[in-house]
Order: sequence, then structure tokens, then C-alpha cells
Amino acid sequence: VNRDAFDRLVALMDPAMVVVTVAAGEERDGCLVGFHSQSSIEPPRYAVWLSIANRTQELAQRATHLAVHVLGDHDHHLAELFGGETGDEVDKLARCEWTPGPDGVPLLLDTGHFVGRIVERFAADGDHALVVLEPVEAEVDDAAAPLRLAQASDIEPGHAADDRR
Ligand SMILES: Cc1cc2nc3c(=O)[nH]c(=O)nc-3n(C[C@H](O)[C@H](O)[C@H](O)COP(=O)(O)O)c2cc1C
Repeated sequence: VNRDAFDRLVALMDPAMVVVTVAAGEERDGCLVGFHSQSSIEPPRYAVWLSIANRTQELAQRATHLAVHVLGDHDHHLAELFGGETGDEVDKLARCEWTPGPDGVPLLLDTGHFVGRIVERFAADGDHALVVLEPVEAEVDDAAAPLRLAQASDIEPGHAADDRR
């Protein structure tokens, strides 16, 4: 494959950035995610791809729900916290405001978000594993313009995709 052409085409799509949070027992975390998409209309399903290097993915293996927060273009600080730090070193949930949702999953205040029950998991063929969600609750106030990948490209990921746990 012409890797440069592939990378440019993917960059052209400039996805909206989300923060995916998780709780497993008393442990909580979340990470910035650019790999995500609705994957079924009826029933509604949503797919997120979590890096196998991330603590969020490790907790997701033991969780029942994930929350998906759609960042607005004023939420760069949340992108930096959740994308630039790893829960292996930092308690990100101690540095932002949230409230517990279904099965304890952290819901970040002042963000549009939905909670999904985990209905399917696929092991990673590459460096990200797929989790499929059934939305069970959703909340949105204002419809701000989303924060896009191009606006988050200054953030150095807390874990490189080729880190191994
Ligand atoms: C622009 C950008 C996009 C990212 N996209 C994803 C993604 O789609 N899936 C993922 O699991 N991690 C993604 N990451 C990486 C994680 O957000 C990052 O490594 C985070 O620090 C992991 O935290 P954790 O170890 O606490 O889970 C992205 C990071 C950045 C900066």
C-alpha cells in the first residue's frame, strides 16, 4: 500500500474526538479516542476501538458499560488530560468533574455523552481491540462544534500504540 496516500486520505476525514470512560470494580479510567463509529441503526449500536496498550482497554475487559463523551471545540483541556496522560501514572478522574452512571461508569460533567452496555468484543487483529455498545442512556445540552483530530494532533498520547502491557 502507498502508506502516505492512505494516511492522507484518513487524515482528510478528520474524525470528531471522544473520551471513552470505564469503571471496573473500584477502578476507573478513560482515554481520548479517534477510532469510533455508529455500526448499526436498528438496533442502534456504536463501536469503539481501544488500544491494547491502554489501561482503559484493560479495565474495559472487566466492565459492563462504557461512556462515550463527544468533545466540543472548547474541550481541548479534556482531550489533553485523557489523551496525554495514562491512568498507569495519573488519576485522571481526580482532575475533572464527573458523576457515576450505570455500573459506576464516570460521566464527565458539561459534555454530551451516551452510555453503552458492552454487547460484543473482538480481539485485536492490529493494535486496537473492538468493543460494540448498545446505547442505554444519552444526554446532550448544547450542540457545540466537535473537537476534531486536527485540533488534537498536538497531544502526545499517554501510551504509544505499540506499547505492550
Ligand atoms: C489524537 C489522539 C487520538 C487517539 N485515539 C485513540 C483511539 O482511537 N483509541 C485508543 O484506545 N486510544 C487512542 N489514543 C490514545 C489514548 O488516548 C492515550 O494513549 C491515553 O493516554 C491512554 O490512557 P490510559 O492508559 O489511561 O487508558 C489517542 C490519542 C490521541 C492524542
